[in-house]
Amino acid sequence: MPRKIAAGNWKMHGDGAALAEIDALIAAHPAPTCRIVICPPATLIHRMATRAQGSAIAIGGQTCHSATSGAHTGDISAPMLAEAGATHVILGHSERRADHGETDAQVQAQTEAALAAGLTVILCIGETEAQRDAGVTLAVVETQLQGSIPAGVTAATLVIAYEPIWAIGTGRVPTTDQIAEVHAAIRAHLVERFGEQGREISVLYGGSVKPSNAAQIFAVPDVNGALVGGASLKAADFGGIIAAL
Ligand code: G3H
Repeated sequence: MPRKIAAGNWKMHGDGAALAEIDALIAAHPAPTCRIVICPPATLIHRMATRAQGSAIAIGGQTCHSATSGAHTGDISAPMLAEAGATHVILGHSERRADHGETDAQVQAQTEAALAAGLTVILCIGETEAQRDAGVTLAVVETQLQGSIPAGVTAATLVIAYEPIWAIGTGRVPTTDQIAEVHAAIRAHLVERFGEQGREISVLYGGSVKPSNAAQIFAVPDVNGALVGGASLKAADFGGIIAAL
């Protein structure tokens, strides 16, 4: 069985005061039955990782460069994330693809760099609303999977997050049938490419997950957890999602 994972993506939210939420999360979940990951802004990674040491909470970055170092102003490398205390990194998020023009090929190179640094990658894919309306969702997702996942990944080093872009931050959630269809296609791709290992890779759903809808989403076959944005910022809200997993 794939590992159950509740991952929080804080995006560009959170300052030193927000560390209280990590303290609350650690206190509330001393022995969770799922893997809990929080991916804060880069400025908080080290402080958060220090607080989370010895706890069940893992800390991740939100992107990394494909190079280990170099003249890349504003970027951060995978070894830097690891040194700061991160064990995970989100790659290929639609906001990175849209705001920074990241392509599948770049996401694949970033993933290789992250794996080389010992990080577990949470690799995001998902269609736009126009693509869904055009009936090409499965083709889009298949292209992203094919183009972004490098060879040699394992269930310990790769997590897939399916995030329909039109569901992110909108309060709109696909039907359970729509989620099931895409997750089944992702699973088929992973098994076809990685055999038995592909059955063990966790596949998360992301997009307007809240405590109120989490149980329904987690009941969908091949949904092994969630990548949560807004509702991961408060320990109480995120705790409600963790409880449903
Ligand atoms: O990475 C997280 C997703 O983009 C979902 O964000 O839960 O605020 O819709 P959201």
